[in-house]
Amino acid sequence: MSAGERLPTVRALATKLRVSPTTVAAAYNALRVRGLVHGSGRRGTVVNRRPPLLTRAVFPPPAPGLRNLAEGGPDPAMLPKLKPYLARLEGIQGRYGDAENRAALMKLAARQFKGDAIAADSIAIVSGALDGIERVLQAHLRPGDIVAVEDPSYTGVLDLVAALALVAEPVAIDDSGPLAADLNRALKLGAKAFILTPRAQNPSGGALDRKRAAELRQVLAAFPEVVLIEDDHAGQVAGAPAITLSGGRAYWAMVRSVSKSLGPDLRVSVMAGDALTVARVQGRQSLGPRWVSHILQDLVAMMWADGATPAVLHKAADTYASRRRALIEALAQHGIEARGRSGLNVWVPVAEEAAVANAMAAKGWAIRAGESYRIKSAPGIRVTISTLPSEDARKFAADLAESIRPRTHAQSA
Ligand SMILES: Cc1ncc(COP(=O)(O)O)c(C=O)c1O
Repeated sequence: MSAGERLPTVRALATKLRVSPTTVAAAYNALRVRGLVHGSGRRGTVVNRRPPLLTRAVFPPPAPGLRNLAEGGPDPAMLPKLKPYLARLEGIQGRYGDAENRAALMKLAARQFKGDAIAADSIAIVSGALDGIERVLQAHLRPGDIVAVEDPSYTGVLDLVAALALVAEPVAIDDSGPLAADLNRALKLGAKAFILTPRAQNPSGGALDRKRAAELRQVLAAFPEVVLIEDDHAGQVAGAPAITLSGGRAYWAMVRSVSKSLGPDLRVSVMAGDALTVARVQGRQSLGPRWVSHILQDLVAMMWADGATPAVLHKAADTYASRRRALIEALAQHGIEARGRSGLNVWVPVAEEAAVANAMAAKGWAIRAGESYRIKSAPGIRVTISTLPSEDARKFAADLAESIRPRTHAQSA
């Protein structure tokens, strides 16, 4: 059928195919969840004109000349220089027969996880945090299943959940992470998985503290079958301790990416998890990409093994922390409240997010309107602070104050 065409009614198709109307309705619903059709009931079910993969946000690059505080990525100046490591790569090409995961990287990953009190008996190597999340979701869930997600959440996660025909159930968050009572509500609705950002929450800049972690663990304990997916996308540069809720759970994965700490182009994440989840992830991976390029695995292993790297990562984490604080303080000078305890972003609640983003663009700043990150939560803007030094934060804050409260001209009565 082509775009715009109307599907037969559920009843008509059920009669024609001699199946129950419930079966046809379920099939139509699966098409709807995948974004292939829209409408239902008396209005009829119509084939979508839009592409089958709907994404919340296609962010065009900021207009030339704008200061780019929109991207959410690390400051290139804070990443270890690649060149010395590239020079040390072995000249011998890898072969099909090589072990999928490099022993040196596995060993370093296990040491890191254990150092953070995260069980490291089963580890996989995947192509970034989002790839790991997708693989764990695929390993356990079916189309139509509910996934509890933080609200607001990283657009990549929301788009991924939709693309897998899963249903996102928003969980309210504050600076210390998801609210325990709201997680409980979402799990009671039947959520099969929970995607948590323990630190460097994107876009809100939240991070779990010990008290909230204990509350969340208690809620999760009543739902032992739920798959817990912890997205540690910023890892060692998050500027907050590594906290896990995974202890004692049956199905879980903690995906630690090197994208923010060593560079987004490395496309490497290490994933700790329960034996079944890790085996399913690796098994499926071995049928598709087979393994993460050994060249990339070797580069990450070299960087992690290098005695100079901890200082580089500390400096990055400290720099991001002071940039977050500088912006929050500069905004406070203008009476603007902002949030950001961890990571690369500061979140500023504003009533008119698109209007504020446009007004800031007119003043030379590219920032993100929060709409694509939200389900039910209140509007705001996301400012990536990774490349915003404190000198510039003051100018930014003054411009934002004007954009939020445009100067009105006095009117004569
Ligand atoms: C919360 C969150 N998860 C995952 C990612 C993507 O990470 P990766 O590059 O490792 O796939 C991002 C990127 O900004 C993110 O903000």
